[in-house]
Amino acid sequence: MGDRSPRRVRGTLRHPPHGPKGGVPHHRGRQGVLEQGIRHRGHGTPLLLRVRPSQPQQGLAGRHRGKRRCRPRVSQGGFPGRGTAPPGALPKQPVLRRVADVDTARGVLPDDARRAHEAIRAGLVSALALCGGPKTRRVLFPPYPVIGEAERRAVLEVLDEGRLSTFIASPGAQFLGGHRIRQFEQEFGEFHGARFAVAFNSATAALHAAVIGCGIAPGEEVIVPPYTFTSTATCALMHGAIPVFADVDEETFCLDPKALEAVISPRARAVIPVHLFGQPALMDELQQVARRHRLRVIEDCAQAPAATYKGTRVGVLGDCGVFSFQETKNLMTGEGGMLVTNDASIAEIARLVRNHGEAAVSPGEARSYKAEILGWNYRMTEFEAALGRCQLRQLPEQNRARQRLAAHLTRALGGLPGLRVPPLREGCEHVYYVYPLLYDASVWGIPRARFLEAVGAEGIPISGGYVKPLYLSPLYQERRAWAFRAYRGDVSYAEGICPVAERLHRETMLLIAVVRPPATEDDMDDIAAAIWKVWEHRKELT
Ligand SMILES: Cc1ncc(COP(=O)(O)O)c(C=O)c1O
Repeated sequence: MGDRSPRRVRGTLRHPPHGPKGGVPHHRGRQGVLEQGIRHRGHGTPLLLRVRPSQPQQGLAGRHRGKRRCRPRVSQGGFPGRGTAPPGALPKQPVLRRVADVDTARGVLPDDARRAHEAIRAGLVSALALCGGPKTRRVLFPPYPVIGEAERRAVLEVLDEGRLSTFIASPGAQFLGGHRIRQFEQEFGEFHGARFAVAFNSATAALHAAVIGCGIAPGEEVIVPPYTFTSTATCALMHGAIPVFADVDEETFCLDPKALEAVISPRARAVIPVHLFGQPALMDELQQVARRHRLRVIEDCAQAPAATYKGTRVGVLGDCGVFSFQETKNLMTGEGGMLVTNDASIAEIARLVRNHGEAAVSPGEARSYKAEILGWNYRMTEFEAALGRCQLRQLPEQNRARQRLAAHLTRALGGLPGLRVPPLREGCEHVYYVYPLLYDASVWGIPRARFLEAVGAEGIPISGGYVKPLYLSPLYQERRAWAFRAYRGDVSYAEGICPVAERLHRETMLLIAVVRPPATEDDMDDIAAAIWKVWEHRKELT
């Protein structure tokens, strides 16, 4: 954290122009409470930071000096399952350019961060919400997803038409699904520069089909990161193949190419890099390792639709790519998924897998009812396809809005010690499915759990850890899947095999999910104000 300049911002905070003279308005409210620091919210709701008149308005340092430390009712911190806070020093700062660096170097606040600091000054006059002070944020963040008029109309058209799913495998124009599904596939494929796109009812289903389509045999190994959603790995088990976990890189939180190479055995057949949180994985390096060892590459793009790597959208960098349209995603249809590929045989197998294994022959041929391979019902309905087509048109602007909000929050948090903002990588576009921060407990002097408690009490939705590395679940610890019965290899799921993922989960990772439209920059200011407030009061939390 050495290249930050906390003094610049702290100087601002320690001499805030409170009161009428200083620009932060205050006036008498009801019940003799001084309403101070009225901030206009994007949604028209003023937030009032209340300070009792009997309390002198002064800088934080003075206000709490000599006072009893805040010891709320909760049990004394510590990390889940551990006694004390580990020192957990963060890795060195990334070599990559960060927005915060640029601003700190200039020594001035950029215009769009000024309001954040106004809010911070206002918030700092009060005690922590955890200690009985006013919350930084009293209203909920705006809900996601937003269903617009276009989506409403598109779904009603499906109802009016009365064909909700035409996957009945009878010969004719709809052999491969309804017309919206085929249009959605075509548009999604073109958007990615892929020859084929196959729609599914989830990314999990599409991942399962991808494993089969890539020719992985039961008993073979598929290498995956452990720091991801469960189905990145269970898609292998569904096919009788065995997930082998390789650690993630501390910069990107995605699969580490060196860790990948280290776990490759003669049984390894494929790798599934995940573009985690919206950030593309280190694809060049991963592809080099994959090529050297003849591994198929299935990109898990569930969290990163339209993120780019060196100018190419993720999903077409490997043999195939899989997307999720589940309700929280950047492009959402409630549930849904898509597989994209330039490989005709993967596309063909994927269509069979999604449709009971019945031959996806050309339209016009007679239905055979003959199952060619083992298949499932992984079909998307016309509703999701209708929503997906609307959402795809909005995706670039939605992602840009996420990027603007993320840049704003990064600037507003710039200079704050003990927090690493997401690095911007040259040539890559991050689409911020969530906004990740790294927490350094040794700088804050309080365990992450305590920090989360304090920021959460300020009214900010924030979480820590993300998933426990997948191999630590009972599914792997006790090998509770049929696939393990026939497996003759020596995969390890022991604690400690992926130390970076374990540390991220246990000690350093923080996630904020509301850095997305319809939230506004004012909302980001509230997040920054709450975190700065906790920073200034951190000694009361020990
Ligand atoms: C990285 C990753 N892969 C796969 C999935 C599975 O997506 P779905 O819920 O569409 O099956 C998710 C869902 O959150 C995910 O985050």
